[in-house]
Amino acid sequence: MATNIPVAVIEKQDWLEPIADRLQPTVAAALSVDGPIGPKAANILHGTWLGHPLHVVLTDVPLGSWTAAAVLDVLEEKTGSRAIGRGADAAIAVGLVGAAAAALTGLTDWSKIGGGRPRRIGLAHGLVNATATVCYITSLCLRRAHSRRAGRRFAWLGLIISSVAAYLGGHLVYKEKIGVDHTANYSPPEDFVAVLAEAELRENELRRVDASGMPVLLVRRGNRVYAIAETCAHLGGPLSEGKLEDVAVRCPWHGSRFSLEDGRVLEGPSVHAQPVLEVRVRDGQIEVRRSER
Ligand code: FES
Repeated sequence: MATNIPVAVIEKQDWLEPIADRLQPTVAAALSVDGPIGPKAANILHGTWLGHPLHVVLTDVPLGSWTAAAVLDVLEEKTGSRAIGRGADAAIAVGLVGAAAAALTGLTDWSKIGGGRPRRIGLAHGLVNATATVCYITSLCLRRAHSRRAGRRFAWLGLIISSVAAYLGGHLVYKEKIGVDHTANYSPPEDFVAVLAEAELRENELRRVDASGMPVLLVRRGNRVYAIAETCAHLGGPLSEGKLEDVAVRCPWHGSRFSLEDGRVLEGPSVHAQPVLEVRVRDGQIEVRRSER
């Protein structure tokens, strides 16, 4: 159920779906192994190397720069100072560079959020941001053409529109849980708890077990048993239904690959590592607990 007006409006915009249906696979294909961008660049754009969504960091650049430009525009209008005006122009230009980077990272993240309401809101967020960017490009062109007053009007319009986009971005994170760590709700047991008879775990099987309420993935490889959180940190996919790839597991939903050794993200879109649990075998039972690592 919609909880606010912008989201309620977006939910009624069915025309967004065909656009999303075409755009999402196109972007995903560009980021695939055979695509022109490729998975390595995709990892950089997701923020896998940062352990945090890169998009969220970059959005501060246009918002901060354009807010500064608005203040400088007011001062220019009041004082008539050209130096202050040049500062506003520079802030808008910096914001446009940041907006391009934020758009690239946002599109990359959006290509891996599946369907439904988050996808539609994400697309609307991108289109509203694109509209704000057009306002700022127009503003800069008008300023260059010595129509500074009109340029300032377009910049203020752009700021209002980009604020709406920022609101939708916040909704995606805080309400739709896009970009958050989906393992955060689970706490591994502090002390060892028995989760499965050792004899029941076959070699190379992806086995989901319950450890005091936390879904855990067990994998036996030779003499060693690995245990990591079973819920994918990206969007909650079931890793036990994924694919074992050497000493790593690939999520069945969007293809994130996690090391079984330390839970590290080997391939995005996830930017959050999987919690790893300590394993021991006692009296024929596999036991797990929170890892100190
Ligand atoms: S839920 Fe998206 S990669 Fe696992």
